[in-house]
Amino acid sequence: MPSGPKGCRYTHAVRRPHAQGVVRRAVRTLRRAPGGQRLIAVADGVRLRLDPFAVFLYDEGRQLDAARQDHLATLDLELAGASVLEVGAGIGLHTPFLTGLGCEVVSTDGRPGNVRELARRNPDVRVGVLDLESAPHIDGLGHFDVVYCYGLLYHLSRPEQALRSLSEIADTILLETCVTPGDSVAVNLVAERAAVATQATGGTGCRPTRPWIMQTLQALWGNAYVSTTQPVHPWFPLDWSTLPTTVEPSRFTRAVFVGSRRPLDTPTLLTVLPDRQNHVAVT
Ligand SMILES: C[S@@+](CC[C@H](N)C(=O)[O-])C[C@H]1O[C@@H](n2cnc3c(N)ncnc32)[C@H](O)[C@@H]1O
Repeated sequence: MPSGPKGCRYTHAVRRPHAQGVVRRAVRTLRRAPGGQRLIAVADGVRLRLDPFAVFLYDEGRQLDAARQDHLATLDLELAGASVLEVGAGIGLHTPFLTGLGCEVVSTDGRPGNVRELARRNPDVRVGVLDLESAPHIDGLGHFDVVYCYGLLYHLSRPEQALRSLSEIADTILLETCVTPGDSVAVNLVAERAAVATQATGGTGCRPTRPWIMQTLQALWGNAYVSTTQPVHPWFPLDWSTLPTTVEPSRFTRAVFVGSRRPLDTPTLLTVLPDRQNHVAVT
């Protein structure tokens, strides 16, 4: 989950939808005003000091969480009872979804502060600090059926190294990430704000293209898939043919992939990247 679309980071502070609209418009106006960006930066700093976890809890972020979990539930993957390593788990807002499936979860994040909050929210789950920038050899963790890697890959400066490490300890990866549209095979490094609890611990992230992800998963797991459908959320586009292919760190363009040691035969997954995707009706 990113730190939120511009202008929406403050809406969680007010409960009433009408007031949230007012806040959103006020912040948008302020951004355009002379000196507005500076004021917003100061407000961001204060907000982060007062509540470092607010960046996980704003309304649009929670909607993104729900959309991704609803979507994953439709993919018809055999997750019930699986051993799962959750990486980049943040404060553990996805963890109950996995434990609810009966998975045996080890939940990790690169930031000790996030992991403390993750443990507080999920007292029955094994947790640990795992920074995927500085953990090339993670085999001490044991072996897992699945690595759940949602919202993390694009916060890494060496995504291939991290995926390689994960491929050594998990048979399957469920991967959700921001991407750069286009047909090229590129990692596209970008600067991020390490001070923000949702962003790259090392201050550099990436916005890889879909072909880069498919090639890398194929090379590391042997079988690579993209979901046939997209989660129902504005950050998951349905028509890739019309999107700009420039690298744009603040534009959230997301997709869901699976890497697997064994071939998966389900209509919910494709081996070839589609130009168009659709939504599945979530009941
Ligand atoms: C956008 S949040 C994703 C949280 C949750 N998985 C989700 O999808 O909503 C990204 C998380 O990745 C963590 N992170 C950033 N860089 C990391 C790294 N090098 N290794 C492990 N975690 C990292 C951040 O601390 C943050 O909790």
